[in-house]
Amino acid sequence: MLKIGNTEFGDKPVFLAPMEDVTDPSFRYMCKKFGADLMFSEFISSDGLIRDARKSLQKLELFDYERPVGIQIYGHIPEAMEKAADMVNSVKPDLLDLNYGCPVRKIVARGAGSGMMQNLPLMEEITKRVVNISNIPVTAKTRLGWDESYKNVLEVAKLLQNCGIHALTIHGRTRAQMYKGEADWTLIGEVKNNPDIKIPIIGNGDITSGEIAYHRFEQYGVDAIMIGRAAIGKPWIFKEVKHYLKTKETLPPPGVIERVEFAREHLHKSVEFKEGMRGIYEMRRHFALYFKSIPNFRETRLRLLTAQNVEEIEQVLDFIETEFGGVELVTQNL
Ligand SMILES: Cc1cc2nc3c(=O)[nH]c(=O)nc-3n(C[C@H](O)[C@H](O)[C@H](O)COP(=O)(O)O)c2cc1C
Repeated sequence: MLKIGNTEFGDKPVFLAPMEDVTDPSFRYMCKKFGADLMFSEFISSDGLIRDARKSLQKLELFDYERPVGIQIYGHIPEAMEKAADMVNSVKPDLLDLNYGCPVRKIVARGAGSGMMQNLPLMEEITKRVVNISNIPVTAKTRLGWDESYKNVLEVAKLLQNCGIHALTIHGRTRAQMYKGEADWTLIGEVKNNPDIKIPIIGNGDITSGEIAYHRFEQYGVDAIMIGRAAIGKPWIFKEVKHYLKTKETLPPPGVIERVEFAREHLHKSVEFKEGMRGIYEMRRHFALYFKSIPNFRETRLRLLTAQNVEEIEQVLDFIETEFGGVELVTQNL
């Protein structure tokens, strides 16, 4: 039974990974609906927060129904991270997560994200300061290491544990791998099963089905798993995975009519939370994936992805319902 701070997560919990430009309130709404046990915000720049940048401040917005929810911040300047952590504390998420895994060049170049895996004294200073100033549990998310020849995640885990973090998520890739190749869970398992490691370890990387989730729990003994890309355009993966973990049975994928219903709900949340056209633009990547496995869908997809307002999108969704509602979807929409 996993517990982080005062929050209990039950057995074999399934978390939603933080994803920039994806895990906004509307997407979190959908993932919560399908049973995600813990969700994270998109990462937020500590510099942006303390500069009062509007985009960063907006990302602090949380709703009670989505709890438990964590906010993730990144940065390389200890004072900025401490101040940003204080701001995060004031909106009272259930967790504050530190990003020590982002591989993006412009972030790593300043020593933030996974760049921090090469500067453990700075990682230690930032983590200690954030833990000290926080009255909510602090967690962190990292990778296996910098590259194939420098996989220091065990050292990182010990250091972070000593700084007082409450849990660590490990994505089974190095910085050099970015998102390429297969995630390697061996080292995640070694950290989890190291006798010096007492904090919960959350495993992440390439979980795309209930069966894979089941085997990752069984083989590596992690305290929770975290799903990222496989939830995009498929928030019902949480229901599928949780069902499989309970019963070892695979649920059939939702049919077209259900997908239309989910797409509608997601769209309405998106335009409710985002101003102007942003609520529509940001739905496009999701729409493309919601209906990915429908045959002969090209023209309709184009109409859906170029519609300029909610009414137009609703018309296309109505059309999908009547035209494709009876289509049987055999694949899992991956
Ligand atoms: C579009 C996108 C945005 C991401 N943004 C973040 C982020 O803001 N913070 C973070 O810690 N990881 C971020 N990640 C990494 C994911 O959280 C996750 O570690 C990675 O995708 C591996 O998990 P998966 O195989 O289940 O997708 C992002 C990944 C993607 C694909």
